[in-house]
Amino acid sequence: MKIKILTLFPEMFDGFKNNSIIKRAIAKGVVEIELINIRDYTKDKNFRVDSAPIGGGAGLIMKLQPLVDCLNATCTASTHKIMLSPRGKTYNQKKANELKNLQEVALICGHYEGIDERFNDYVDELISIGDYVLTGGEIASMAIADSIIRLLDGAINNESLVDESFDDDLLEYPQYTEPYEFEGKKVPDILYSGNHEAIKKYRRKESLRLTKKYRPDLYEKHVKNKQDLKLIKEIEDGNESPKWMTDALEKGKKFTH
Ligand code: ADE
Repeated sequence: MKIKILTLFPEMFDGFKNNSIIKRAIAKGVVEIELINIRDYTKDKNFRVDSAPIGGGAGLIMKLQPLVDCLNATCTASTHKIMLSPRGKTYNQKKANELKNLQEVALICGHYEGIDERFNDYVDELISIGDYVLTGGEIASMAIADSIIRLLDGAINNESLVDESFDDDLLEYPQYTEPYEFEGKKVPDILYSGNHEAIKKYRRKESLRLTKKYRPDLYEKHVKNKQDLKLIKEIEDGNESPKWMTDALEKGKKFTH
């Protein structure tokens, strides 16, 4: 996949491209990231890319000419062109899963107080990363690029993508590492039972419980299948140790912490 980022501040992406999973994905050829400086396309003799809004008002607005020329010179009709904007539809995991299937995506970062309104006609869609205003689209485009790249084949271990937060509209279940006990806080015994079915059920129950607690909006939306309904009933009844769990613990006695 190729991701083109059109920005006035390409150096902001140095840290993003040169660390951890993104750096490895680039090295392995999973993704190509091209940074394009919009300023390189201005025809202004002083290299300006912005000017005062017509009609008056505060701040500077990005001009149309550098943006359009930059887009025309670097993208084709088959490039999916996304403008980062607080006006856009709010980004989510479902959208990341959609975008990962595209061959080429352009992320266009606005800056200053806004862009010339007419530029919106040149892009395929507007995306926001939340109901707050950033100084520019750069951080938003990093968030979007990051969420897409980690879904591409070869970027991370495929198993890590199973049971993720927001798959199914549920938050991910809690994870633990050694030691068994730290400052009196223990790892749940069921995880030592060796009973994969019971662990799976426990994790599903925890996903439901955490989603209900932290994201009631998602929980309400969740399509409850028969098994989930049973687990939800256990949560609502405050039953921390249902029979399937105590049975699994009884059988797993040979497993030590
Ligand atoms: N640019 C400024 N604020 C933004 C936001 N919330 N999402 C995407 N792009 C933006």
